Amino acid sequence: MPEGGTTLYVCTTCRREGDDPEGPRAGARLHAALARRAEGLRVEPVECLSVCKRPCTVAVASPGRWTYIYGDLDAEAAADTILDGLKRYAGTPDGIVPWRERPKEFRSGVIARIPPFPPVPEATE
Ligand code: FES
Repeated sequence: MPEGGTTLYVCTTCRREGDDPEGPRAGARLHAALARRAEGLRVEPVECLSVCKRPCTVAVASPGRWTYIYGDLDAEAAADTILDGLKRYAGTPDGIVPWRERPKEFRSGVIARIPPFPPVPEATE
């Protein structure tokens, strides 16, 4: 499983058309499926990644690596695909997985990538 401080953020408030209004939302179901399978990976629930028109949505981040946001993920079927993609992500020094090695759902569902946070300059006195 991914190492190097990789965190997967899963929007638990995403809804899918046809979701039972009385049951858990699609995003919450996806989060539960990932939390059950993700050994050694931090899976954090979040309320809205501002990509509400492309449910379900997740973001993957890691110190020193690019952050990626993905959407259009199926709550019932995407967990294994996401974990496979994250394994590949964690195996890179910068988070950039070659296009052809990315799961199909990551190629079609990528919404944004954000550069690694720059190192904090040392204080000078
Ligand atoms: S509700 Fe999931 S991204 Fe907004």
